[in-house]
Amino acid sequence: MDFLTLAKTRYSVRRYTKQKVEREKIDKILQAAHAAPTAANLQPVHLIVVQEQEGLEKIGKSANIYGAPLAVIVCADHEKAWVRPFDHKQTGDIDAAILTDHMMLEAASLGLGSVWVCYFKPDVLREEFALPGYLEPVNILAVGYASGAPADPERHAQTRIPIEALVSYETL
Ligand SMILES: Cc1cc2nc3c(=O)[nH]c(=O)nc-3n(C[C@H](O)[C@H](O)[C@H](O)COP(=O)(O)O)c2cc1C
Repeated sequence: MDFLTLAKTRYSVRRYTKQKVEREKIDKILQAAHAAPTAANLQPVHLIVVQEQEGLEKIGKSANIYGAPLAVIVCADHEKAWVRPFDHKQTGDIDAAILTDHMMLEAASLGLGSVWVCYFKPDVLREEFALPGYLEPVNILAVGYASGAPADPERHAQTRIPIEALVSYETL
């Protein structure tokens, strides 16, 4: 499948079967994260892979992951992240998002569903996973086998703003 077809085929999955994600597939998802670029290659991200019931229940206190059997908590390390000198913008969140997107698309290429979750209680997640202050949980990527009909790969004409509104050439 070419990349554009993969990008259009992926959709947010909010119903999962109970089937566990195989170890080889988890490894490939993590390799996709490992290959992701980060600002100045500083790699200020830590991934917590959760698939045991106890860990999934801990996540459940903070977020709805829709019954997914696997979740990756993507944390930004604010002590390692690159800072732009002109305005002191720190790119940890951006780096964390790139890793998350790489994992999400690799999951799709492996026939897995996923949903990117930001609606979580960060203080609860911090406490449950004993995260040190410098590690901020930025995203949770829930992964598993989708239950139910897939979304239409051609849905974006209806579900996204028109490409003309998204893009301008040369000037705003
Ligand atoms: C940064 C970000 C945060 C998101 N947070 C949540 C979330 O907390 N819960 C959820 O169900 N979906 C969440 N989503 C999924 C979006 O709602 C979804 O990607 C969007 O509606 C487009 O649908 P699609 O992914 O099926 O194309 C999030 C997506 C992104 C990119």
